[in-house]
Amino acid sequence: MDKKIALLKDKINQANLGGGQVRIDSQHKKGKLTARERIHFLMDEGSFEEIGMLVTHRSTDFGMESEKYLGDGVVTGYGTINGRLTYVFSQDFTVFGGSLSETHAEKICKLMDMAMKNGAPLIGLNDSGGARIQEGVVSLGGYADIFYKNVQASGVIPQLSAIMGPCAGGAVYSPAITDFILMVENTSYMFVTGPNVVKTVTHEEVTSEELGGASTHATKSGVTHFACANEIDAIAHVKKLLSYMPQNCEEMAEPIPYEPGDESRIELNTFMPQNASQPYDIREIISIVTDVDSFLEVHKDFAENIVVGFARLAGRSIGIIANQPAYLAGVLDSNSSTKAARFVRFCDCFNIPLLVFEDVPGFLPGTDQEWNGIITNGAKLLYAFSEATVPRITVITRKAYGGAYDVMNSKHIGADMNYAWPSAEIAVMGAKGAAEIIFKREITSAENPQEKWLEKEKLYSDIFANPYRAAERGFVDEVIEPAQTRIKLIKAFKMLENKVVNNPRKKHGNIPL
Ligand code: HXC
Repeated sequence: MDKKIALLKDKINQANLGGGQVRIDSQHKKGKLTARERIHFLMDEGSFEEIGMLVTHRSTDFGMESEKYLGDGVVTGYGTINGRLTYVFSQDFTVFGGSLSETHAEKICKLMDMAMKNGAPLIGLNDSGGARIQEGVVSLGGYADIFYKNVQASGVIPQLSAIMGPCAGGAVYSPAITDFILMVENTSYMFVTGPNVVKTVTHEEVTSEELGGASTHATKSGVTHFACANEIDAIAHVKKLLSYMPQNCEEMAEPIPYEPGDESRIELNTFMPQNASQPYDIREIISIVTDVDSFLEVHKDFAENIVVGFARLAGRSIGIIANQPAYLAGVLDSNSSTKAARFVRFCDCFNIPLLVFEDVPGFLPGTDQEWNGIITNGAKLLYAFSEATVPRITVITRKAYGGAYDVMNSKHIGADMNYAWPSAEIAVMGAKGAAEIIFKREITSAENPQEKWLEKEKLYSDIFANPYRAAERGFVDEVIEPAQTRIKLIKAFKMLENKVVNNPRKKHGNIPL
């Protein structure tokens, strides 16, 4: 038995070395952790149990028979994160560049099946050169198996993808299907084809960083939800994100202990600028209203005219969608609509109530927006809110104009409670534009058209630049003092805790993609 145990220990040591010490050193030199080190930092100490440590590939071409590494380039297993069961796979770049073989894919698929059966989140720590080139079609098949399972798991368990190194080809599509992507500045890349292929096909000269670095995807493409300073920061973000989520779609996120205190926020009564065109940072209102330091912004640097993220209210997890008057006056455009729609759908999948702060002058006009599909993209947000069955509350802080009034979680599309501050303006459009259209003849034929215009602008503004018309109709449930916002929200979300809505039976809806 001693000899047999020694053999086992030898194999374990071998597996722990991945592609060997030289490659581990090279990984460290690039400022990257190894697959196992990442798991060590991610999971609760001593909780990780590895599955499939001794798996090897079955490839025989190109002399591969003699080049085998135990585990075959991916460490898979389960453990706990802050006490909660979590499944994790961590690709090992020291073994064939973390590339995906048939058996590497089988290990990930096995884990995904377990995560789904047992209703717990799946975290992927990705560091992979894509399909293992030596294996040809079987590695492509392996990717497709993973994509398929990603889709099966979507909306069943939370799936988070941290990109910890260069990820090319198939290595980017699995993360793209998952719920959240986190990238590391300067050491992680995502692209379908790398700079060399780009140069050959389009003759563009571009660096990996420009093409698919964390900043590029956080600001330009919106592919990543987070750009993290380093790997430890990315791992910390994964843990924090998870803390707002339930284990699966049948559960609610675990509330954190909360001591009730004075919930009024008197500073909000003097928060709003005198001039309705003056910008302010909606994040300030979010942080005043929600629990201290609880706001985790998602997609922070992409489509900044809308702010989305998780927070807590009296200890309970909520998802926030808020127009941002400090950026493009908070207007809705293609990117902000898509960003918000995806976030709304995530929260709805996992029973996270939605809170909307609304201050929106409308949809952004122009050829750029029209030709880039603002109609389809705006419809995504409208669709996402309309189908969401979680508790939904809106607070109109200032402008709620035009189609954007309807879209931003209005009562008409199923919001449960809509509050408005006395500073709210709810109308088809701003008073200036409205007066110009409906009083055009009177204005142009007046002795002093400018004076007439101002007079008519004031008339329209007196009638509509307030929340009371909407409150008379019940489209706004209550006009509240801003200082009361937090109190009202805590009570209303509590009241909505057992909300049940069943949408009409269907196979699935057809969101305008
Ligand atoms: C097998 C691979 C590999 C791959 C890297 N390696 N990618 N082995 N299959 N796909 C190996 C290298 O041979 C090398 O082995 C080690 O990993 C490290 O690679 P380097 O190139 O030295 O590292 P680096 O300079 O950091 O570059 C990393 C990289 C580059 C950017 C990922 O290796 C690269 O471009 N790889 C190919 C990417 C690619 O085109 N993949 C196929 C995509 S097609 P040694 O022995 O020297 O350590 C695809 C189809 C799926 O994925 C589509 C689904 C929709």
